[in-house]
Amino acid sequence: MAISRLGYRILWCSLAAVTLVPAFGQEPVTLGERLYLGQCAMCHGARGEGGRGPVLAKPKLLHATDDASLNRIIRSGIPGTGMPGTGLIDAEILAVAAHVRQLGAVRPEPVAGDARAGSEVFFGRGRCVACHVLQGKGGIFGPELDGIGARRSPTHLRQSLVDPAADFPPNYAWVEAVTPTGRRIQGLRVNEDTFSIQLRDLGGQLHSHWKQELTSLRKDLKRSPMPSYRDTLTATELTNLVAYLASLQESQ
Ligand code: HEC
Ligand code: HEC
Repeated sequence: MAISRLGYRILWCSLAAVTLVPAFGQEPVTLGERLYLGQCAMCHGARGEGGRGPVLAKPKLLHATDDASLNRIIRSGIPGTGMPGTGLIDAEILAVAAHVRQLGAVRPEPVAGDARAGSEVFFGRGRCVACHVLQGKGGIFGPELDGIGARRSPTHLRQSLVDPAADFPPNYAWVEAVTPTGRRIQGLRVNEDTFSIQLRDLGGQLHSHWKQELTSLRKDLKRSPMPSYRDTLTATELTNLVAYLASLQESQ
């Protein structure tokens, strides 16, 4: 059967297109990368830069210290944490694990700034301890920050400070409730079911209410209770603070 000259040209063009796409980095090239982008990237970032889950783009991982523990974590997750198990079969687990190792084979993101000066901002002018526990002390309004530098990339840390609403844990919803006596309470939703809601106000006090009895209840899932420091700290203070947070590698 003869193929026309035009037919050859079309065939050749489509082959070229298929081989060129991966070269531009648009499409996942390996099975491991495809699985990673589909099942892991939403929490760990497309390049392992971290997000809801910790940074994977670094040479040494905290829990996944060797191949066996990495495979185990991918299979079964880490019980009691936000790391779910997967339904992947052995060959797929090995492929994803290889991709995670590849993500880790990068030079760590460079951190500018002076960590010691940053710690003075943290405990001093920044008043971060009002809401965050660090080394066993501080307020419980926000998440604990021990080991935060091992869980989050410097880019994510900076973003948490200047644009907290961009990406924050979904369990931190901002609520405003007005009680039957007209009292307005603003704070974090700690717990909620069909009938009741518990929230923690900015002073750290817990409140529990029957939803039906409240005059109004507003929830804002897009607004972070963490204030933005874009305008209240100087550029140098922010850079030093990021350096300090990035230096916190040990969980207590
Ligand atoms: C729903 C979010 C989520 C998804 C999806 C997810 N992870 Fe995680 N992962 C986490 C969280 C949160 C942790 C940290 C658990 C802890 O230690 O508190 C974690 C921890 C890990 C660790 C341990 C990191 C270390 O420092 O040792 C590895 C490795 C890991 N995940 C790989 C993966 C891979 C591979 C996938 C996809 C198959 C995946 N994760 C999917 C949230 C997620
Ligand atoms: C009014 C209370 C409050 C103050 C003050 C506050 N934070 Fe937060 N912070 C929160 C809450 C609540 C969250 C969780 C929601 C979020 O990530 O936006 C948070 C999140 C964060 C995160 C992200 C944690 C993660 O796992 O991604 C970092 C980093 C952080 N804060 C650092 C700081 C630093 C540094 C300061 C001082 C300059 C500070 N915070 C001051 C309440 C506060």
